Amino acid sequence: VKKKSLGDFIKMKQEKQQVTWVTAYDFPTASFAEQADIDMILVGDSLGMVVLGYKGTNPVTMEDCISHCQAVRRGAPHTWMVGDMPFMSYQVSDEEAVRNAGRFIKEADADCIKLEGGVRVASRIKAITDAGILVIGHIGLTPQSTGQLGGFKAQGRDVKNARLLIKDALAVQEAGAYALLVEAVPPEVTKFMAQKLTIPVYGIGAGPADGQLIICGDMLGLFQAFTPKFVKKYAQLAEIEINAFRQYGEDVKTKKFPTDDHVYHVLEPIEEFEKM
Ligand code: KIV
Ligand code: NA
Repeated sequence: VKKKSLGDFIKMKQEKQQVTWVTAYDFPTASFAEQADIDMILVGDSLGMVVLGYKGTNPVTMEDCISHCQAVRRGAPHTWMVGDMPFMSYQVSDEEAVRNAGRFIKEADADCIKLEGGVRVASRIKAITDAGILVIGHIGLTPQSTGQLGGFKAQGRDVKNARLLIKDALAVQEAGAYALLVEAVPPEVTKFMAQKLTIPVYGIGAGPADGQLIICGDMLGLFQAFTPKFVKKYAQLAEIEINAFRQYGEDVKTKKFPTDDHVYHVLEPIEEFEKM
């Protein structure tokens, strides 16, 4: 399959074709997503929770993000890859934001970057876009600011908050982002945004939109800490892995593994070895 380009994603919105988008953080998962013809991969800072074991995303560094993006790119060379800007890589200034966004493109061969926020990061989005880098905005439940949001909570459920979200969505488009991700907002609000905006609006926990994102650890049943309401589980990989490890442990203890099938026998008469 040919790698998609910006034009393909714009056309998919116009033709009302859904974009499929998953997170991946490592070589094998990226390769499996590509083999399954997924349209885009997000190397989310959710890697902090899903693969590094942090409680939130804020400890994740630029180095973590770059190295995971590089692994994903090796696993999925023909898939549109989104680098996710970690906490404090773009908050301080437009200049730092541009420099860090550039690292995703230059060092990890990302196709674009994503950052959190609406009105308040408009100048960052514009600065990064002006550097020639494609940007996806991210509004609604923004995990890097869960302190201010009061936790991992759905957003835009009352009119006042929904109005602010729509302002954010318009600011993201106005600032030059080529797409917007909306997380954990009512489908009614998402639908309104997808109609109002000319850029593609993708959703996670936000009902139908121009495309869907899901976190691989959630959909594959690998992330055990909690499961948001908006997740559909397509596999129970944790169970499969635990069973495999348990079986292996039992086999070793009961001497069922290794057997003659799993060894390299000597190539010369055994007597020669006994003289050693
Ligand atoms: O890091 C991530 O996976 C994300 C999604 C939760 C939207 O930003
Ligand atoms: Na993220």
